[in-house]
Amino acid sequence: MTKAVESIKPVDIGFERTCDCPPSHINCLNAKQWIKSQITIQTFYYEGRDVRDKDVHPAVFPIALPAHFIKLFTHKGELVLDPFVGIGTTLIAARDLERNAVGFDLKREYIEYSKKRLAQTSLTANSEQVLINDDALNIPQYLKPETVSLCITSPPYANMLNHKRLNKSIRGDLRNNKHYLKIQQYSLDPKDLGQMDHNQYSQTLTKIYKGIYPLMKPQGHVVVNVNDVWENNKRYPTHIYVIDALEKAGFEFRNTMIWDKRDLVNKVGIFGWPSNFITLGATMEFILHFRKPD
Ligand SMILES: C[S@@+](CC[C@H](N)C(=O)[O-])C[C@H]1O[C@@H](n2cnc3c(N)ncnc32)[C@H](O)[C@@H]1O
Repeated sequence: MTKAVESIKPVDIGFERTCDCPPSHINCLNAKQWIKSQITIQTFYYEGRDVRDKDVHPAVFPIALPAHFIKLFTHKGELVLDPFVGIGTTLIAARDLERNAVGFDLKREYIEYSKKRLAQTSLTANSEQVLINDDALNIPQYLKPETVSLCITSPPYANMLNHKRLNKSIRGDLRNNKHYLKIQQYSLDPKDLGQMDHNQYSQTLTKIYKGIYPLMKPQGHVVVNVNDVWENNKRYPTHIYVIDALEKAGFEFRNTMIWDKRDLVNKVGIFGWPSNFITLGATMEFILHFRKPD
C-alpha cells in the first residue's frame, strides 16, 4: 500500500525489483526511450502538480526532473533516496513510477507540506514513500546497507544567508518579482547546509555522502542537481565542490548533464553591456551523475 508517514527509525521498506525485466537491464526502458535519455541537455517542463510558489519553498525542481532519472537508473520496486527532499517532489515522482522512496529534510514545515502533497497524488498503490524530518547526516541510522538503487537530490547552496535573489530573466524596469533582492534561506538551523561557509559546506557534504555510501547497492547511482553561484562579485563553482565532495566519499564521477531552462526565461535585459560580461545563470543548471563502484 502507498502511504506517506513520518517514520520511526529504522525504516522497513521494499528495495527489490517488482518488474520482470531481464537481470542485466539497468532500467525498465525500451530501446527507443533509452535513446532519448542519452541526450546530455534536457528540458524538464513544470506541470499542474508542481509547486512554484517561493513562499512555500524557494527552490523546488519540477517532478519531471527526478522522474527522468528514476526511469533511467531504477526498476519498479527499487528504492530511491532524497537526502534533501524539500517539499517532496522526488517522492511524488517515485510514487508515480511505482518506486519505493525515502526523503529527509531538516525543516519540519517542509516535511508536513510534503505529506499533504503526497496525500493528493495517488496514481498507483504498489510502492511506499516515507518522509523523515531529520539531518541528512543521520540517514545511516534509518536505512539498511546496500538497499538504495538511486540517490537523487538538489542540495542547498553554501552561504545562502548572503544570497540576495537576483532575477535577471526580466528587464529591471519590468521587475515585479516580490522576491527580488530578498535573502531566501530554508532555516536558521546551524545544521542547514545553506547556513555554512564554503569550506564547512564541502566537508559536511562529504560526510553526508560517506554515510550514504554503504547504503547504496553496488553500482548504485547518485544524481545531484546544482548551479554555480555568483556572490560578492565572485563566481563559486558549486558543481566542482559537489564533484570533489562525492569523490572524497568514494563515488566515481560519470557524467555531466545540463538542465536547459531557457523555456523558463521570459524577457532578457542587456546586463553588463558594454563593459562587463555576465551570463544568465538562470538559463541552465548542472546535473551531475556518479556511481558507486562494484
Ligand atoms: C534545494 S532544496 C530541495 C528542494 C526539493 N528538490 C523540492 O523539489 O522540494 C534543499 C533542502 O535541503 C534542506 N536541508 C538543508 N540542510 C539540510 C540537512 N543538513 N539535512 C537535511 N535537509 C537539509 C532544506 O531545508 C531544503 O528544503
